[in-house]
Amino acid sequence: MSKKRVLSGMRPTGKMQLGNLLGAVANWKKLQDQYESFFFIADWHALTTNYADTKDLRASKNDMLVDLLAAGLDPEKCTIFVQSKLMEHAELFLYLSMITPLPWLERNPTYKEQLENITDKDLTNFGFLGYPVLMAADILIYKADMVPVGVDQLPHLELAREIARRFNNLYKPVFPEPQAMMTEVPKVPGIDGRKMSKSYGNAIYISDTPDEMRKKIKIMVTDPARVKRTDPGNPEVCTAFVFHSIYTPKEEIPGIEADCRSAAIGCVDCKKRLADYMLAQLEPIYAKRQELLTRQDYLTNVVEEGDKKARVVAEATMADVRDAIGI
Ligand code: TRP
Ligand code: SF4
Repeated sequence: MSKKRVLSGMRPTGKMQLGNLLGAVANWKKLQDQYESFFFIADWHALTTNYADTKDLRASKNDMLVDLLAAGLDPEKCTIFVQSKLMEHAELFLYLSMITPLPWLERNPTYKEQLENITDKDLTNFGFLGYPVLMAADILIYKADMVPVGVDQLPHLELAREIARRFNNLYKPVFPEPQAMMTEVPKVPGIDGRKMSKSYGNAIYISDTPDEMRKKIKIMVTDPARVKRTDPGNPEVCTAFVFHSIYTPKEEIPGIEADCRSAAIGCVDCKKRLADYMLAQLEPIYAKRQELLTRQDYLTNVVEEGDKKARVVAEATMADVRDAIGI
């Protein structure tokens, strides 16, 4: 029996943050062992919002590739490719745009929310409205069975299914309906306790040096009511504790909680312990990153091979698509 196929993409919009690592990439790393996996750098999708500022795009893509490999994606196990190298996505996007009713796009909650919240850019462009149609093309062209995504992407996946159904009904059944694969991911706050975001300056990046990471952990907010070392603390309201629950071995958590509440441990020591556990996991990734940065030929080769493997599948689907439409 052939393995089920998984596909997912990520936009290169800047340095990769811990949230991406824990939320998406760690999961991709597991999936590559169980499924026929396609993972790609969604540079066209990055353009839908960042069309006016492309000076860092190439560097971001290279960074993302390095991050993905450093975090454990293995080109021997999965196909890693770059969206803009696969013109077939653009062609399918065009056909799908013909059959997608505008109201489907206009009522998309993620679209409406972003239009409202992203105020530093003009997002009244056609490409941004069509974001989910491009995403549907990305998914359907590989006839993916499953698509690991975060909750914000669920409306897009629902649209991909609706578009697949509409295509199949209008022409011929070409596309299976992809299923969303929801994974339980820890919510990672920024070091100031707010949502982790580049614009808040509170993010931890995969590319941070171990020293930088330690510094960030040192200034990470704790229970704000714990002013003196002798004040008992409350882990429930402590940002550092959120990271403990992600990085510290499970069996040590109850002890930390108790010691915090009884003031047996101070925040400085508590965060030192946290830093040791975080670094134990992140330092090898950093080291791998540094090593990869010296091997540009290898990096180029990884995506060239990935593009080739992806193209075989994409081309086969497009032959069916053109046939079904009769073009
Ligand atoms: N929209 C996705 C995100 O921002 C990225 C993406 C583009 C994607 N195409 C995709 C994810 C296809 C899954 C499948 O997270
Ligand atoms: Fe947070 Fe640890 Fe300080 Fe408690 S002791 S408030 S868990 S950093």
